[in-house]
Amino acid sequence: MAGPLFSVVVPATTANLGPGYDSIGLALSLYMTVEVSEAAEWQVRYSGDEYASLPTDERNLIVQTIFKVADQYGKEISPHALCIVSDIPLGKGLGSSATAIAAGIEIADNLLGLSISPNEKVRFGSEFEGHSDNVAAAILGGAVITYYVDNELYYLRLPNPAIGAVLLVPPHALKTTESRRLLPNELSHAEAAAGSAASSLLSAALATGDWKLAGQMMERDRFHESYRKELLPDFDQIREVSRQLGVYGMTISGAGPSIFVAVEQGKEQEVAAELEKRFPFYKALSVATAPRGTYVQRNEG
Ligand code: HSE
Repeated sequence: MAGPLFSVVVPATTANLGPGYDSIGLALSLYMTVEVSEAAEWQVRYSGDEYASLPTDERNLIVQTIFKVADQYGKEISPHALCIVSDIPLGKGLGSSATAIAAGIEIADNLLGLSISPNEKVRFGSEFEGHSDNVAAAILGGAVITYYVDNELYYLRLPNPAIGAVLLVPPHALKTTESRRLLPNELSHAEAAAGSAASSLLSAALATGDWKLAGQMMERDRFHESYRKELLPDFDQIREVSRQLGVYGMTISGAGPSIFVAVEQGKEQEVAAELEKRFPFYKALSVATAPRGTYVQRNEG
């Protein structure tokens, strides 16, 4: 049997950073690697138990995305086997579905020789996922501020943030659809104005690398935190302890149920150990930001 053709590597992401709801995404140093080989039919194999519940045939999200991209370009695509290793927790608010979509776009692009531009990849990804924050960061790496509204897409990729991060990951998963159902249909004008002010200043602080200010704004969301935090045990206490530990800021990671804590570079392990000791319900992972988005590794020889 012929060896793998190539592998695609995609980082995890945290979305929103508080008030940047559906807009801001940050790539993190946890990765999914998909090895692509020729095969008689589509098959997907995951290493380990974390992803054991996912479909391993054509219903798989990566394969579905490959089909959609091929379809967009009016191309036929022959079956392949996808062999996947991932250290990204599944369904925990760390962009696992955006990672799968970004992988599918990259695989289709390479198998079909399409040379899709980064802009088009972000557009496809946003269409497939329904929002742009996770998928833009998964494709481009670093921190990305996006505007994806009524099918109009604009984005700005910022220099990779020089911070460390701690992820508090609970044992249970939460579907994004379920978490979005908790949100109100409408916000008052005053609430929207307050959320927008926090989001604007958060963006400016991220762009200028002022993480002290960015962390303060991360904690001033009006769009989703108060509706979702009940699902995250000890959320308020974790915020209090995080402040005592001198972190930049903490917020829900994406739609939850994980928590994202931004810390000074080099402090992540110490903060992770302390938070895990105080809140043992959560597993604390210390991570870095990922400067590089989705990329292809060619298998030599
Ligand atoms: N912006 C999204 C949300 C991220 O908060 O629902 C989750 O995919």
